[in-house]
Amino acid sequence: MYPLYVSDLARFDGQIVTLRGWVTHKRSKGKLVFVVLRDGTGIVQAVAFQPDVPERVFAACEALTLESSVSLTGRVRADPRAPGGFELAVQDVAVAQLTHDYPITPKEHGIDFLLDHRHLWLRSSRQHALLRIRATVIRACQEFLDREGFIRVDAPILTPAACEGTSTLFPTDYFGQTVYLTQSGQLYNEAAAMAFGRVYCLGPTFRAERSKTRRHLMEFWMLEPEMAWCEQDENMRVQERLITYVVETVLRERRPDLERLERDVSTLEAVQPPFPRLTYDEALALLRANDLDLPWGEDFGAPHETLLATRYDRPLFVTHFPVQCKAFYMAPDPVRPEVTLSADLLAPEGYGEIVGGGQRVHDLALLEARIAEHSLPREAFEWYLDLRRYGSVPHAGFGLGIERTVAWLCRLDHVREAIPFPRTLYRIYP
Ligand code: 4AD
Ligand code: MG
Repeated sequence: MYPLYVSDLARFDGQIVTLRGWVTHKRSKGKLVFVVLRDGTGIVQAVAFQPDVPERVFAACEALTLESSVSLTGRVRADPRAPGGFELAVQDVAVAQLTHDYPITPKEHGIDFLLDHRHLWLRSSRQHALLRIRATVIRACQEFLDREGFIRVDAPILTPAACEGTSTLFPTDYFGQTVYLTQSGQLYNEAAAMAFGRVYCLGPTFRAERSKTRRHLMEFWMLEPEMAWCEQDENMRVQERLITYVVETVLRERRPDLERLERDVSTLEAVQPPFPRLTYDEALALLRANDLDLPWGEDFGAPHETLLATRYDRPLFVTHFPVQCKAFYMAPDPVRPEVTLSADLLAPEGYGEIVGGGQRVHDLALLEARIAEHSLPREAFEWYLDLRRYGSVPHAGFGLGIERTVAWLCRLDHVREAIPFPRTLYRIYP
């Protein structure tokens, strides 16, 4: 008798095994009890047939309730009609806990109820599919960069200064000093890139954005590659190849999960480089032609991005944003200094920005001027200025939002389901 997982069953046809998991469904019919067991790797139907098992075993199976935790021992039986292709003919059962009144039932629940019970909602098949895809996205990102020779060098979470504007900082007390939860690892990545050439960091980042949209979380995960000796065109080429690799990996490895989510994969299959590019000015003209006006110099909002992102069958780069709508570190375009060597990558099907990046200012005097213009505390940036004093080179990088990428790949209505425990404007429970 081997304790094993549902995903291993194909190798044990005809043998007696023990599976451990939770009851997702149970029904009785005469001398038969059907128990559907979930163990995290899959689900399997176990059948207890009264004449074949001791009365104690049959009674215990009959008494099982939704989400009771059990060990079931029995013989594996190939059955083409069964989900997964196998069934378990029960011989013995050991109940770890008999659950009473599990709050999530097969009936429809409202989103607030489900979010209040997120710790239990994670057990549902839809959440399994989503979070498995999230895990694959993260692994594929790392796989791609590791193979390309990037070194993972992580950035701190507690930081003395802002990276992405002072209005979205979460302050916290650090032994009498005010510090902030990181908005982005970029500035530290730039130091690491001058040490290692090509690097990335991956971790949680925080934005106190008073936005209650379907794209905003207060805490989200970001993958941030940074490359020394790299200009903006190459930066965008890396993004194209990374995104294509992630999409291909999800299509190859997570088909059943995409099917569970009823995701139309034909739109994902179209994701191939090169991705189309529009300058900010071209995008603005397109928006204006569609009655979405915006003064030159203002950043796009969700409706603008949605309109742009529905016009193409693959991700779209919007490049050359005006200096005033980007962060202090963005390099100006040498031929047109009022715009930056920046790009946002907008996901198709209306999803909007999933990646933001660009080339960084590498000139010391210009960076000093930018820090002053943005009224940033100079002392906190002295170390960052050092990078422009000692062997400064053109460099570029980007940040890919994991949850927004997962939301697009899974075609979710809201990013909150793309992270195990979402932190949104009005929710920090559970
Ligand atoms: O465009 P952002 O703000 O860029 C940066 O932070 C750069 N420092 C990254 C870099 O160049 N190293 O954020 C990057 C991405 C966005 O494109 C989006 O996918 C995601 O992070 N993001 C959010 N995701 C969920 N909720 C939020 N509040 C987000 N803010 C940004
Ligand atoms: Mg951005």
